[in-house]
Amino acid sequence: MAFIVKKKIHNKEYYYLNENKRVDGKVKTKTLAYLGKTRKGAEKKMNEFFENLRKKQTAHIIDKNMQKTPSASEKAEISIGSLATFCKRKGFVYQSGEIYGGFAGFWDFGPLGVEMKNNIKKEWWRFHVSEREDIVGIDGSIITHPKTWEASGHVDSFSDIFVICKKCKKPRKIDKNEVVKAKCDFCGGEYDLSAAKEFKLMFETIVGEGGKAFLRPETAQLIFTNFKSVYDTSRLKLPCGIAQIGKSFRNEIAPRDFLFRSREFEQMEIEYFVNPEKSSCPYKIPEAEILVYSEEAQKKIFNPVKMKISEALEKGIIKKDWHAYWLATEFLWFVNLGANPDNFRIRQHASEELSHYSSDTWDLEYKFPFGWKELEGIADRGNYDLSQHEKTSGKDLKILDEETKKKILPSVICEPSLGVERAFLVFMFDSYSYNKERENIILKLHPKIAPIKAAVFPIVKGNGFEKIAKDVYYDLKKEFNVIYDTGGSVGRRYSRADEQGTPFAVTVDGDSLKDKSITIRDRDTTEQVRVKIKDVRDVLRKVIISGEDLFKLGKKVNTRVK
Ligand code: GAP
Repeated sequence: MAFIVKKKIHNKEYYYLNENKRVDGKVKTKTLAYLGKTRKGAEKKMNEFFENLRKKQTAHIIDKNMQKTPSASEKAEISIGSLATFCKRKGFVYQSGEIYGGFAGFWDFGPLGVEMKNNIKKEWWRFHVSEREDIVGIDGSIITHPKTWEASGHVDSFSDIFVICKKCKKPRKIDKNEVVKAKCDFCGGEYDLSAAKEFKLMFETIVGEGGKAFLRPETAQLIFTNFKSVYDTSRLKLPCGIAQIGKSFRNEIAPRDFLFRSREFEQMEIEYFVNPEKSSCPYKIPEAEILVYSEEAQKKIFNPVKMKISEALEKGIIKKDWHAYWLATEFLWFVNLGANPDNFRIRQHASEELSHYSSDTWDLEYKFPFGWKELEGIADRGNYDLSQHEKTSGKDLKILDEETKKKILPSVICEPSLGVERAFLVFMFDSYSYNKERENIILKLHPKIAPIKAAVFPIVKGNGFEKIAKDVYYDLKKEFNVIYDTGGSVGRRYSRADEQGTPFAVTVDGDSLKDKSITIRDRDTTEQVRVKIKDVRDVLRKVIISGEDLFKLGKKVNTRVK
């Protein structure tokens, strides 16, 4: 139970919000917040405190309405190679430099791909930055001061070990402690383990008249080098985070699996800072059930166990509440955008696998067709980076903790770090389906992720249909990426839109001329509703952005062509 208490210090009154809790049979009192110097102000602040708490506790929940994953009968297995072919055929992604024979590890996004990639980044930013009060963003430079990478340890230790296949001479990256028993993926040959070599991963470049510099291999370091400036110029208070989306470059020895491991990719990263002396998480751990694969389970060769992330925390499998919070939050970001929860697990890094800067790392992994792989790393980096930059630059990066009036160097309790391209693959794999009755591929992408939000068709050419359809198209175009299509029968146009993942098709038909209405077809059910032309944009906004039910916003109709 919480209550206001008044304390007198040197004849002045101070108000606090205290809470009594029974722990092991004894009542313990904890101060929840300082409420100021007047009774009236204290009551106002207490209400604000509970309002904020309520917001925090309801911030991240699974929204079942937003899930659009294919049904079991529609789910179509697709290999990574076939997905690459599909992406090329539909204009999502092309091999970079293809006309010159291709450039390994580099990919270009086509008209659909760039829209989808932008949507992923937009949704990530909205969820992690715009909707939160404790995270702000930056956009740092790609070529960064060379000292950055000395301080961070990348110059010395950012490298991979690789081995070469004795038969086909193709290289393969191995983890530093891995004994390669595997056969070559390309020809089945054996690897020459005696000739394992170290390969530096940072791309070098020359700045001006000869200064060597590096292209950043992670966006994170820019957050650390800018930390003090951001903290001093924004209204952040610990615990708080700084986010960034941007390109990263790694000279991968063996880029592979389409976009999964490339040499140029984009990262969406947050460094989440806390005061190391009072670092408990004030947020409720979001409800999320997932396969949990601890270091201990991996070493004892046990299977991962499905449980609530909050339960894994209670049982001590996940050590810190912040780690549980970020793992659940990241998992739910994917699920609420239509990813299939059954394809995810969380895996703890074994101690010998940890990066030089991390004391504990959990990966959010995804079941790719080529095995369980890292989708997003969530590392506890402590104050390794800030103290390294303090040492190397000679600058004081400490901040003043307003409550204790002490100068502290914050710790990064969690670093959620996700590759945009890996997220792109997840949404592709989980939405790709084949419908036998409709005899076509349907990309059941969440409307927020779908590259094209609606396709506008006149049912046939002429008779004034095109004029109305064009007007609707131009009106929708002001707000959404939509297309106008007159090629082939309406059925053919529907299937083309389905393959591109377009969630809605707007058709101008014979009745439109009379009743000033059109039909909106839902990609996944093929059901249609009739909506007044003047309301189309508003209806689509409600369905796409707020997740409202299309069938409650118009009159359901039966049409000949589904
Ligand atoms: N700042 C921490 C960091 O960079 P990381 O595990 O090396 O950690 C984070 O990378 C994420 O970036 C990965 O989980 C993955 O999603 C993405 N990523 C890393 N290397 C990649 C590559 N070569 N190609 C595509 N994505 C990559």
